Amino acid sequence: MIVEELNSWLESPDPATFPVDAVVGEYHRVGKHFVGDELLEALARVRASALAHAPTCPDAHVLRRFLDTALDKRDGRYEYTTYIALSLLPIPGVDDPWRADARGALRRRDQLVLALLADVVGFELDSADGHTELFPEMPPDAGTVIKRCRHALRVAAPALEREGLMIADLEPVPAARELCATIAARLTERERRVLKLSMLPVYVSHDEYLFIRVLQLFETTFASLALALLNAVDALGEGDAATAAESVALAGATLRESAPLFSLLGTMQVESFRTFRAFTDGASAIQSRNYKTVESICRRPDPDRLSSAAYTSTPEVRERVLAGNATLDDAFMSAYAADRLTTDEREALGEAMREFAATLQRWRHTHYRLAVRMLGERTGTGYTEGAGYLASVRSIDVLRSVSRSDVVVSHAV
Ligand code: HEM
Repeated sequence: MIVEELNSWLESPDPATFPVDAVVGEYHRVGKHFVGDELLEALARVRASALAHAPTCPDAHVLRRFLDTALDKRDGRYEYTTYIALSLLPIPGVDDPWRADARGALRRRDQLVLALLADVVGFELDSADGHTELFPEMPPDAGTVIKRCRHALRVAAPALEREGLMIADLEPVPAARELCATIAARLTERERRVLKLSMLPVYVSHDEYLFIRVLQLFETTFASLALALLNAVDALGEGDAATAAESVALAGATLRESAPLFSLLGTMQVESFRTFRAFTDGASAIQSRNYKTVESICRRPDPDRLSSAAYTSTPEVRERVLAGNATLDDAFMSAYAADRLTTDEREALGEAMREFAATLQRWRHTHYRLAVRMLGERTGTGYTEGAGYLASVRSIDVLRSVSRSDVVVSHAV
């Protein structure tokens, strides 16, 4: 049926009328890992013929990216970024021409964070209310749904405030419903479509939806951190230590705001995770370009780290490091050595950098604890030994130009 629909669409292909609901519906019905060959080949034909000649319009652009995401396993290109459909999301990046516009980037980040949070909470509520039959395996109990609403609202609160939006209700479930309604009213048709296309779980476990959205949310955060840290490096190069300190402080605050995402993900049912991860082999956040970009803007990774799986899994970032990308550590030390910082500036910037480093250490520690809980002794999907790898990398210095905080307390998960 869907293949016939696609064939008739191919007779007069218009990206705006692509049968999104039918195709995504089939992916959702069985999980990406189990989509039949007939549909995969029909989608590959769409990509090769119709889209190859489609005009460069936003709909065609989104559809091309969707097909690359949907066909990743068939193409043998399946990995972390395609698993979480990262290319479909409008994440502000370090290569954007307007990246110096810190305020604009923060707004875009806030809007995307709110859209992703409202979407995941909306799915939890729809499922609890019996309004959807999507991803029916192992739904959470009512208490877990309440917890998910509470944690999601904690992450949303600062972005809501910056956007001038108010959630009046104090109880988690009605407040979460309000969040969904408020954000839904602001989304354009295209944004709604992108949200739908960017959710392609490999299986039909209820909790995989949460897992994918949380990964997307953290990626959005890492990308914002990279932008803010790069702005700090640029500002230091221009002798503007105040802006540098402000940018590093912004990076720290953004990462702190995201921390309750770990509590949200901590509600994932271990059995559910262990079931769907059987089909995610080869997709691991060790391939997160955004995370490694953040790390390598802070300082140049040590040679053993650079030649390890941490960086061979993110070849573009490794290339950038080998080409000698500018780092915050270097920028700070040269400004200091050249006597370009007043005592006040040095202290303010040093403090912001120490705070940021401590926050990232805390992130790593919390991530490690969550991984231990979810994985136990199992190896990682990125082919490391799993928790053992994370234990060894969690204490790597974030920055070396400022003395590091030795006390690392993780967040509750
Ligand atoms: C169920 C939850 C999670 C588990 C069990 C888990 C497990 C792991 C494991 C075992 C690794 C090592 C590489 C591998 O073999 O796969 C890893 C790396 C990593 N994970 Fe997670 N993870 C989880 C959630 C997350 C989340 C939500 C993020 C946020 C994006 C994340 C980001 C990362 C990053 C950036 C690395 C690379 C660390 C490095 O190379 O230093 N993880 N994770």
